[in-house]
Amino acid sequence: MARTITIASGKGGVGKTVIAANLGIGLSKLGKKVIILDADIAMANLELILGMEGLPVTLQNVLAGESEVEDAIYKGPAGVMVIPAGISLEGLRKVNPDLLEDVLSAILDKAEILILDAPAGLEKSAIISLAAARELLLVVNPEISSITDGIKTKLVAERLGTKLTGIIINRVTKLGVDTTKKEIEAILEGKVIATIPEDPNVRKSAAMGTPLVIKYPNSPASKAIMGLAAKISGVKLKEKDEGEKEGALRRFLRIFRR
Ligand SMILES: Nc1ncnc2c1ncn2[C@@H]1O[C@H](COP(=O)(O)OP(=O)(O)O)[C@@H](O)[C@H]1O
Ligand SMILES: [Mg+2]
Repeated sequence: MARTITIASGKGGVGKTVIAANLGIGLSKLGKKVIILDADIAMANLELILGMEGLPVTLQNVLAGESEVEDAIYKGPAGVMVIPAGISLEGLRKVNPDLLEDVLSAILDKAEILILDAPAGLEKSAIISLAAARELLLVVNPEISSITDGIKTKLVAERLGTKLTGIIINRVTKLGVDTTKKEIEAILEGKVIATIPEDPNVRKSAAMGTPLVIKYPNSPASKAIMGLAAKISGVKLKEKDEGEKEGALRRFLRIFRR
């Protein structure tokens, strides 16, 4: 039976999709069998970030009762399995989001970890994504509106029996204006499991449709996400997974001593 983890937030645009995609790939790199499912059916963009758009059968078809979920599972980067939501507006009209829980139940034996990229807010489809998973990773940006909206998501999740596994603070800057980790833990009454810096490579990799942890494994945000993958899975990172630890001097010495 897979662990089911929903990546959710109160406010939109905080980095859920970036984190779901790269955490899923990161966990796959660490040897875990992972499915990432795009539960943000109305604003699907997981497939864009992964460079996997335009696939013939998607979650839209499954939730419309037209296809079996097995036919909507695709192999993505680093062997991660992906269930794209589909980006057609026409297809969206036929979707019944209430079927999501059944869809998840049908694939629980196909992976060790199932990651849901949830919609923002507390509309019906967001509630369904929170209820469908056992664990919540709550994404916030270090600013007040994102954190206060996060409180609502956390409370609703807990009422639905979904436990907060950890808070992820994304887009952390050094500008001195960010709400601190300590403050966020106090307000949200939970533990911060990862702190991901603001990193221009995130947007660059998204624009290319090649995920960050594949394209820029040594970038600061990649390293933070790989650290999160290690914590979630309990697998220790090898030096190479942690990005390029080796400085120029050590690299010189290694080559020199050959
Ligand atoms: N750590 C980061 N550094 C820089 N840009 C980021 C970071 N995380 C996310 N972004 C950018 O923020 C925007 C929203 O991210 P996205 O994952 O789509 O949010 P959500 O799924 O929560 O709506 C995207 O343009 C993405 O490239
Ligand atoms: Mg998203």
